Amino acid sequence: MNKYRDFFNAYVAGYDTESAWIWRKHEHTIRVADNCRVLAEDLQFNAYNAELAELIGLFHDIGRFEQWRVYQSYSDDKTIDHADLGVKIIKENGILAEHPDYELILKAIYNHNKFKIDAKITDDRELTFCKLIRDADKLDIIREFVSGDLKLPQDGETYSIKALNEIAKHKLLNRKAHVDSVDVSLTALALFNDIYFDYTRRCIREEFLLEKIVELYIESDPAQTNLFRQLERFIKEQY
Ligand SMILES: [Fe+2]
Repeated sequence: MNKYRDFFNAYVAGYDTESAWIWRKHEHTIRVADNCRVLAEDLQFNAYNAELAELIGLFHDIGRFEQWRVYQSYSDDKTIDHADLGVKIIKENGILAEHPDYELILKAIYNHNKFKIDAKITDDRELTFCKLIRDADKLDIIREFVSGDLKLPQDGETYSIKALNEIAKHKLLNRKAHVDSVDVSLTALALFNDIYFDYTRRCIREEFLLEKIVELYIESDPAQTNLFRQLERFIKEQY
């Protein structure tokens, strides 16, 4: 695993590491790779599969660095899908080409940020890794939101009832349908509707991540307190 970590660090060193934006994605990646490892151990993967999980975590956001260099933005909706870009970079540079699970790695990376996992993926093992990277990534994103990264609406902006209803129906918010609207900030809440594994649910419960995010929303728009409490209850039904 060390050789992959070294490769990843050398790859990132080719970008502007003085930039806090680049550094942030580097740190996110390391935490997600660690989450993948812990999840894999919780699922009692063998040593080979646990390493594979960690590897997918390490490369899942490889497209972020080039995305930032070209666009100075991490908005996939306004620039390019960073997972598609990551897969392209891996292929073009012959990264991991010798790995026995090369195709699985590409599928997991490609699907990590999609609204839904591609329905054409039906193989259990492939699906498990696709789900694992999505949980590991979401867990870190939720923790980032809780520690201050949540973009809340400015004065006078309100959430749409349509978006709140989507979340209440246990759905993920389709970002593409909410670009440029204040509803994008509700994405954080929608993430809780797309969790696959007990380990992730346990972290969410034990760290009170849902409760903390709901508090942030209520603070930003106290008039909607009841609505957010209701959403919190809807989401909790799944935990
Ligand atoms: Fe990503």
